[in-house]
Amino acid sequence: CADKPSESMTPDPIRIGVTLYRQSDTFISLLASDLLDCAKARETQDNVKITLNILDGTGNQGTQNEQVDRFLAQGYDAICVNEVDRTAASVIIDKARAADIPVIFFNREPVEEDMQRWDRAYYVGAIASESGVLQGRIVSNLFNQNPELVDRNGDGKIQYVMLEGEPGHQDAAIRTEYSIKTVTGAGISVEKLANDTANWQRAQASAKMGQWLKDEEIGPRIEVVFSNNDDMALGAIDAYRAAGIEDLPVIVGIDATPPAREAIKEGTLTGTVLNDAKGQAEAIFELAYALSTGWDVKEAVPRLEGQYVWLPHRTITIGNVMQEFDD
Ligand code: GAL
Ligand code: CA
Repeated sequence: CADKPSESMTPDPIRIGVTLYRQSDTFISLLASDLLDCAKARETQDNVKITLNILDGTGNQGTQNEQVDRFLAQGYDAICVNEVDRTAASVIIDKARAADIPVIFFNREPVEEDMQRWDRAYYVGAIASESGVLQGRIVSNLFNQNPELVDRNGDGKIQYVMLEGEPGHQDAAIRTEYSIKTVTGAGISVEKLANDTANWQRAQASAKMGQWLKDEEIGPRIEVVFSNNDDMALGAIDAYRAAGIEDLPVIVGIDATPPAREAIKEGTLTGTVLNDAKGQAEAIFELAYALSTGWDVKEAVPRLEGQYVWLPHRTITIGNVMQEFDD
């Protein structure tokens, strides 16, 4: 029965299963806690009981598949999957379809052919190219307004290094491409000194950056550190600190996590791009809730376009960080 539960009945709790690719990921853990907030708010507002079961895929697709199997076997109302391996969606979609339990992927986008296997498979995320463009614009604007702040050796070019997210993740390759394209598209020449993956992780980025700083052909020449996310940008800052270098180059990240916001205020991080964890969590939850209760999905999530929900990004620098967040 798809009717809105009335006050007089005590309906069964709604059960929504969530599996995360890796709970220790900073951005993902923020999104997970926003999901819990959404569920609590709905419980109060609609006077319903909602069980939101959030599991950690621990970076292992086999583990995550077992978690999905359990949710399906237990007849959950909807499942939300932040895939470990985003190319492995077809297996999950086929099983969910067989069990007729809707599935919402988020943050790690399945390939389109997989999404086409079932119209009750959804994806909630942010457009990767947009985050890259906005990150590139922070650098090109700074260069155009104050070239000497960026172009330290005065050769008219930006010497840069790139810290990349996990290979195979849509956000890694696309952010890398579009941030640089945006800078060169603004008429600024660039010279890449080094690039490598640090898998979204602060410690890995710090180690990588530490190696570059020791290399005389790279370290002293770095004018901009582009990082596919904030945790790795913070790792770069850690490496400069560990090397005893106080005069930092321009460093830009993506996500706008609380520690990154702090770093902007303290002047070590030049800027970031808000990856809207809260907006994405709301869309994921409202979609799951509507699918569980039989309410109209388009009404629940007006941003829904077909099977996709796209949340916009925003640029965050010292100019607006205080106004945008009350921390
Ligand atoms: C990205 C985010 C990264 C990391 C990754 C995990 O969108 O910017 O910080 O959380 O997702 O899939
Ligand atoms: Ca230069």
